[in-house]
Amino acid sequence: MNQSMQSKLVFRQFFDKDTGTFTYYLFDSKTMEGLIIDPVKEQFERSLQFIEELGIELKYVIDTHVHADHVTSSCMLREATGAKSVFGEPAGVQCADILLKDGEELEFGRFKLEAIATPGHTDACTSFYTEGRLFTGDSLLIRGCGRTDFQQGSPETLFNSITQKLYVFPDETLVYPGHDYQGRTVTSICEEKAHNLRIGSGQTLEGFVQIMNNLALPKPRRIDEAVPLNMACGYSPELGHINEDNFSMHELYQILDRLHKTEKIVDVRTPHEFLQGHVPESLNIPMGTEQGFLSDLQSYERVFLYCHTGRRAQTVHTMLSMQGFDNLVCINSSGMADWMLAGFPVER
Ligand SMILES: [Fe+2]
Repeated sequence: MNQSMQSKLVFRQFFDKDTGTFTYYLFDSKTMEGLIIDPVKEQFERSLQFIEELGIELKYVIDTHVHADHVTSSCMLREATGAKSVFGEPAGVQCADILLKDGEELEFGRFKLEAIATPGHTDACTSFYTEGRLFTGDSLLIRGCGRTDFQQGSPETLFNSITQKLYVFPDETLVYPGHDYQGRTVTSICEEKAHNLRIGSGQTLEGFVQIMNNLALPKPRRIDEAVPLNMACGYSPELGHINEDNFSMHELYQILDRLHKTEKIVDVRTPHEFLQGHVPESLNIPMGTEQGFLSDLQSYERVFLYCHTGRRAQTVHTMLSMQGFDNLVCINSSGMADWMLAGFPVER
């Protein structure tokens, strides 16, 4: 790439068929610094592959709100890329690296993404604006809007968010929603002002509240699983410990020469990290590839999972636990970093 060239904003839109969710990538073509909005857990490998192929230096993993219909891959992408996880401030998501207030900005390359608090679908819904594009999550959808009957939703609040925070953008501003179930991908402020079925063509607050309070929608299929997981950036603390609590690398060292042949130590770091040095006799199953090793993992009575600091081990543990694995011991508070520091034997 010509380094003297002015950088461009590169934009990509991806779709998750199962949940009708859009995921967006934005990055600076020159610095390659970028961000992702609303990544879906089941699409983690697709995301990582895209990021690696294009050489995007992922700075932020952003969720427009605590989703009820799908689980975010925020913590997995953070662990894999070093990006910071971002939510709107009222979400109260404890594990997020950044909680954005209305009007705050995130920089990537020479571009800025502005947070616009648009509560109503949930109390923490945040839309984002950059360079003529609005990312509205579930606040404003194409010809519709997010429901307001759970997660502190409020039709009055949503009406004000859409009419006072979004409809004030120039007519030609492009609107990219969090979902669409009818194959549409983008709309604009002027189209929605004119044609939105719930909040277009001069709809009044009273008329909107009347519609929203009479939708009688079924409960989202995955809400009971998705909300608690998303409150933890997609990671489930309650699934964290199955066999042993607070098992550490020091404890692993103490049983190292007593391991039974039905027990296996699994290193979930990348092959490159593994080659640099690992726990003797351990097997490398990099995070994200575990689906290819399910029968191996099942064949052991006990599997010890470790990584560099414990985060990836925790993620793999969560994934496998959800698939019914109950033979795992997750080393989630320490990892190879502590093993090296302690001077324990390293195999290369
Ligand atoms: Fe939502």
